[in-house]
This record gives sequence, structure tokens and C-alpha cells, in this order.
Amino acid sequence: MQEANRLKRLPLYLFTIIDELKKRARERGIDVVDFGMGSPDQPTPKHIIDKLCESAQITENHRYSRADGDVEKRLRRSIAAMYKRKFNVELDPDKEVLPLIGSKEGIGHLSTAFLNSDDIAIVPSPAYPTHFNGVLIAGGILYNVPITAEKGFLPDYSTIPTEVAKMAKLLFISYPHNPTGAVCDMKFFEKTIEWARGKNIIVAHDLTYSDIVFDGYKAPSFMQAKGSREFGIEFHTLSKSYNMTGWRIGYVVGNADILKTLGKTKSYLDFGIFRAVQEAALAALDGPQDCIDKMVKLYTERRNLLVDGLNAIGWKTEKPKATFYVWTRIPAKYSALTALEFATLMLDEAGVVVSPGTGFGEYGEGYVRFALVEPVERIQLALKKIKVFLDAKT
Ligand SMILES: Cc1ncc(COP(=O)(O)O)c(C=O)c1O
Repeated sequence: MQEANRLKRLPLYLFTIIDELKKRARERGIDVVDFGMGSPDQPTPKHIIDKLCESAQITENHRYSRADGDVEKRLRRSIAAMYKRKFNVELDPDKEVLPLIGSKEGIGHLSTAFLNSDDIAIVPSPAYPTHFNGVLIAGGILYNVPITAEKGFLPDYSTIPTEVAKMAKLLFISYPHNPTGAVCDMKFFEKTIEWARGKNIIVAHDLTYSDIVFDGYKAPSFMQAKGSREFGIEFHTLSKSYNMTGWRIGYVVGNADILKTLGKTKSYLDFGIFRAVQEAALAALDGPQDCIDKMVKLYTERRNLLVDGLNAIGWKTEKPKATFYVWTRIPAKYSALTALEFATLMLDEAGVVVSPGTGFGEYGEGYVRFALVEPVERIQLALKKIKVFLDAKT
């Protein structure tokens, strides 16, 4: 059976290759230190797990979720209340909040909901892969805007040709940014609105890492920018803020018409989120938030250890202001290698896994990403292994 042509356009999923290499290294007895996937190693806070266990016992929760159900309404209200508390943004919980089975699901379906075969989606590159792969699966046209260290990994809208802007229906942005760890300020959002206004483009901002911020930086919400709701939406998730990646719960807020169309698409494809998970999400959003402070402390320690350690062994690397990713150029002496070749070599020779930058799009070439999902002792071990690996090459 031949897969659909749309699927043939998808880039090679580099993480499958890395997984295979990891398996082979482990079979050879190598102690692999894994900075690959952005899946937090820490447990979900206990009060959230307890709520899930309690809610899973209730028969009513075993049925299909429905938008007008009690827990569904309470969850939308709680998300709106969180936006008010955190960003001073008022949202209509019934029209401007849509829960998702993880934000990845909503990001993917946004392209399905809006893109025709002659519609362009503009995606900065490198990016979180679903931002561009969702476009290809939907059969739309992908237009990459390179983002570079020189410009703080922010897109330069003046480089987008007028013909592209005319055909564009979607623009994805995401700060704090995966994979680069870059951040933005309100001015950037204002510039984005200025550029998008009158162009009939949906601006989708992905705020996944808003809680993982360092050194006093505060991540703004796109919804705080004046006019953003005319054509803007914002994805968010409980995955990273509460170590709930496996639970599959996120949400999108913003323009009511866009959310309505996305909701319509979803209603043909899914039945919402397990109600016990929604109850647990309520416990997370309405409950004590000190778990987030603890998590940020932990990532700060790991970030400092890894980045200071890499610099100390001669691998020049900058500290990100947010996210749990460290994005760094492959060392100069390996510059003849692609990011995938370098990542493969480091795994084979040092037993340390990083993600090749090209896993995040063509403009990730020359870089690798460390995810800070290993404890301090393992980071120390990795630094020793990397030092031996780097010193071995003359
Ligand atoms: C930028 C970004 N958006 C979305 C997601 C997906 O998150 P979720 O678990 O809510 O699907 C991730 C996960 O790594 C991410 O990095």
C-alpha cells in the first residue's frame, strides 16, 4: 500500500534514527546519557496524581467528554481565570478557550482546519516540528523563514515576499522558543500584529514554555498585545509546567471564530479529553503553584552546570533565558560534519545523546540541542565523557 503523497513530503524523522542508534549503543553496553527528547524526567506533582486517581473512580467520568459537561465548563473557566491571574487577560471561557488533547494535537489540526492546497503557512525555521509537519500533512504549502542567532532567533518579517504574504493563511510563532531557547518581548508581538494586520492571516503563538523562565525573565502572552485577538490564537499546555507530558492535556485561547472552526474539525475526529484528566488539570491550574518554582530551580541548576561545563571544556555555549533546552553550534573542529553526523558520532564515541538541529528544520543545520532532562550527576558524567571525546580529536 502506498502512503498518501502528503506523507511522502514529510522530512525524515531524525528522532527515529537517534532512537535506533541509542538502542544499538545500549546493546553494546554503553551507559547512554540522554539529552534527546524534551520529555521531563520529574514526576507530576502528587496532588494532581491524587486527583486523577480519585476522579478515575467515578463512573460518570468514564463516558465521552462533552463540551457542555460540568467538568468541561469548569476547566474552561479555570483556564480563563489563569490567564486573568497571570497575564491580566480577560477570556470568554465558552468562546475563547478550547481544551486540547495536548497542544500538539491542536497545532496539527489547525493546519487541517484552515489550509487549502494553495494556502501558505509561514513557519520560522528551526521550529518545533509539528508547526511545519502539520502543514505538510494538511497538504498546505510551507514557507520557512530562517531565524538566526544574530537576530535573536526572531523572524524578520521584512524578508517575506509580498506574493508569499498574499497567499499566506497561517503564521506560527513560539516564544520562549523550542529548540533555540530564545525569548521575545511585547515589542516583537506588536511588530507581528503590525505586519499581519489586513493580510487575512491567522497568527498562532505557541506559549508552551511560559513557566520555564530564568534570571528574572517573564514570558509575555500574545493575548496581552493590543489587537492580537482580531486574528490571533495562543497554544498552551500542562505538559511542561506540571510534568504532565504523558497525560495529554493542553488548550488554545484567543479569536473565537478561529477556535470555533478548530473545534468543529476536532468534533469530527476526537471525543475530547478523559474527564478524570480534566479534573486533574483543574487540580494543577487551581492548586498550589510552588511546584513550578521548584521545577524552575531544578532546571536553573542543570542549565548552569551544563552550560558552564561545556564552556569550561572549550565548547562555546550560551545560557538560555527560558525553556529547558540548550541550543549550541557544533564545535568548530567538527564543522565539516552535518548536525546528524555529529550527533551520531558523539553518541557512538561518548555515549551522549543530543538532538541534531536539522530535526527542527533545515535552518537547524550546524546546531545540536541538549534537553535538560537528566539529573545533575548524569550531567557531570556527560561533561566528563564529552571532554574525553573532544580531546581525542586532534
Ligand atoms: C513548542 C512546543 N509546542 C508544543 C509541544 C507539544 O506539547 P503537548 O505535550 O501539549 O502536545 C511541545 C512539546 O515538546 C513543544 O516543544
